[in-house]
Amino acid sequence: MAYNLLKGKKGIIFGALDANSIAWKTAERVHAEGGTFVLTNAPIAMRMGQIRDLAEKTGSEIVPADATNVEDLENLVSKSVEILGGKLDFVLHSIGMSVNVRKGRAYTDEKYDFTAKGWDVSALSFHKVLQSLYKADAMNEWGSIVALTYMAAQRTFPDYNDMADNKAYLESVARSFGYFYGKEKKVRVNTISQSPTATTAGTGVKGFDGFIAYAEKMSPLGNATAQDCADYTVSLFSDLTRKVTMQNLFHDGGFSNTGVSQEVIDEFTE
Ligand SMILES: NC(=O)c1ccc[n+]([C@@H]2O[C@H](COP(=O)([O-])OP(=O)(O)OC[C@H]3O[C@@H](n4cnc5c(N)ncnc54)[C@H](O)[C@@H]3O)[C@@H](O)[C@H]2O)c1
Repeated sequence: MAYNLLKGKKGIIFGALDANSIAWKTAERVHAEGGTFVLTNAPIAMRMGQIRDLAEKTGSEIVPADATNVEDLENLVSKSVEILGGKLDFVLHSIGMSVNVRKGRAYTDEKYDFTAKGWDVSALSFHKVLQSLYKADAMNEWGSIVALTYMAAQRTFPDYNDMADNKAYLESVARSFGYFYGKEKKVRVNTISQSPTATTAGTGVKGFDGFIAYAEKMSPLGNATAQDCADYTVSLFSDLTRKVTMQNLFHDGGFSNTGVSQEVIDEFTE
C-alpha cells in the first residue's frame, strides 16, 4: 500500500547492489511513495551489480561514487541537486564492508590496514557524506538522513568482528553531526539498527544462518525483513517524524529488549 508520503521529495540512495539489498527495497518503496532520487554505488560494485534495472524501474539516474572519496561525494551531491532540480530531502547511507571479515581474519588477529579500510568504507564514509551535503548546503530544512547499523555496536556478537567497532563509530557520527545539522539547518540524522537480513553483506558474516535463525526465535515479532526496513526508512524520510533526530532506532522485532524467549528456553529444556 502506498500513501504518497514522499510526494515531491528528492534524495540520494547509496548501496543498492542487487535485489536483496536493503537499499534496493528502499528505492522501490520510496518510488512507490512518490519520491525521486539519484542512485549511487562504488564504481566497482556497479560493474557487477544490476543497478541499471533498478534505475530503469524507478526512473532514476545513476551517479557513481566511492563513499570513501570526498571528491566523488562532492560531485555526487552537486550532480544530484542538478538532476533532481533542487535541494534534497532525504539520503540513505546503506554501506558496509569489512576486509578482515572478507579475508577470514579473527577479531583477535586483525590486519590493521584491513581494519582502516573497513572503517573508512563502513563508518567514516557517513561523516564524509554528511560533511559533503552540509558544506554544499544541499539539504532542505526538515530533510532526513538515515544510515543502517547493527546491534553489535552495543552488545558483542563474536563473528561480527571489526564491523561492531565500525557500527559504534557510525552511530556516534549520527549523534554528533545530528546536533550541528539540527541546530543550523533543521536536518535530521538517525541510524536504524536492523535485524540480521539475508543480503550480500549480511551473509558474508560467518555463521550467518545460525545467527538469523537465533534472532528469529528471540524476537517476539520475528526478524524485520529488508522490506520492513524499507517501510521504516520511508517513515523517517516523511514529514511524520520531523522531531526525530540523533537517534539509534532499533528495528528488530523486539530482539534488543528480549532477555530470552520461550522458544530458546525450550531448545535447552529436555
Ligand atoms: N544484512 C544485514 O544483516 C544487516 C543488518 C544490520 C545492518 N545492515 C547494514 O545495512 C547496510 C546495507 O547492507 P545490505 O545488508 O543491504 O548489504 P549489501 O551488500 O546489499 O549492501 C552493501 C553496499 O555497500 C556498498 N559499498 C561497499 N563499499 C562501498 C564504497 N566504497 N562506496 C560506496 N558503496 C560501497 C556495496 O556496493 C553494497 O551496495 C550496511 O550498512 C549493513 O551493515 C545489514
